Amino acid sequence: MFDNATILITGGTGSFGKKYTQIILEKYKPKKIIIFSRDELKQFEMQQIFNDPCMRYFIGDVRDSSRMMEAMDGVDYVIHAAAMKQVPAAEYNPMECIKTNIDGAENVIKAAIANNVKQVIGLSTDKAANPINLYGATKLASDKLFVAANNMVGSRDTKFSVVRYGNVVGSRGSVVPFFRKLIQQGCDELPITHTDMTRFMITLRQGVEFVLRNFERMHGGEIFVPKIPSMRMTELAKALAPELKHKVIGIRPGEKLHEIMCPADDSHLTLEFSDHYVICPTIQFANQADFSENRLGEKGTPVAQGFEYNSGNNTDWLSHEQFLAMANSIGD
Ligand SMILES: NC(=O)c1ccc[n+]([C@@H]2O[C@H](COP(=O)([O-])OP(=O)(O)OC[C@H]3O[C@@H](n4cnc5c(N)ncnc54)[C@H](OP(=O)(O)O)[C@@H]3O)[C@@H](O)[C@H]2O)c1
Repeated sequence: MFDNATILITGGTGSFGKKYTQIILEKYKPKKIIIFSRDELKQFEMQQIFNDPCMRYFIGDVRDSSRMMEAMDGVDYVIHAAAMKQVPAAEYNPMECIKTNIDGAENVIKAAIANNVKQVIGLSTDKAANPINLYGATKLASDKLFVAANNMVGSRDTKFSVVRYGNVVGSRGSVVPFFRKLIQQGCDELPITHTDMTRFMITLRQGVEFVLRNFERMHGGEIFVPKIPSMRMTELAKALAPELKHKVIGIRPGEKLHEIMCPADDSHLTLEFSDHYVICPTIQFANQADFSENRLGEKGTPVAQGFEYNSGNNTDWLSHEQFLAMANSIGD
């Protein structure tokens, strides 16, 4: 579906954007891939790696609606990946996080509708489900904007959906590069926030492929959640350094013991498919789709009342070997 298409990725120089670009170029022959982000150095460095004639690099800020409007001229598909995503930075600079993650989402939506974009996917995070920190709360607001956008299109045919997933193994600022740095520096113990803490784990490639597949599945209005394994943080530390002791440092501000992807309070809206869940919109749309069958013909069934998809109650757990295979595949 991306052959001869024009695709715009906000936050295209980030971990997700670069992997997405790599995979699109491996699988399709797009007309244009537009990378939209603020920092010229990151764009310059990305241009050294991705210099296919279809590549376009636009400097711009998602907070700037007129620039967003210009960038989306002639675009068929949009992936909105730009975000301020460090939990502590969001707590200390709340309005900056709100401007990027909420105002930015609104600008993406308005520009997509005005330019007759076909489909838009907004990236979300497990931290947006029952949020306890500002980052998660802004991503929940962004999810709500993307879902409601399907009712703002009027006579246009733009469709908006959301993809929500958990920790990307090895992404910038995450636990795997942090532990690996400590191990390299010769530390004699690894810091663990809580011995019971668990997280969902996904590789960047799996995340990108899930997003690509959902462009084919979406009616518009869904929050797509992949079924992915969990891991206890103590097991993650043991897998990386079996000989090292652990030092319990306590849960940090804005952190949960377990992450949630489908909240129990949304169970009446949640459908289970073979490899993913869909949280259906809580509002009605003018042309309401039947979300129990997606555009690929896959069928979903309602989950039990009170069902919660949570990294602590997951039935799928990573072994040390499986986790190391994921952690070692970061550059694939
Ligand atoms: N990494 C994870 O573990 C994870 C898990 C679940 C969900 N997600 C979600 O996935 C998305 C992508 O994450 P990522 O890991 O690829 O993030 P990342 O590596 O930090 O990249 C963020 C990108 O956004 C751009 N950006 C930031 N603020 C911007 C603004 N105001 N206007 C335009 N561009 C802006 C950055 O470039 P400039 O700084 O140059 O503008 C960069 O290209 C995010 O929405 C995140 O919430 C990530």
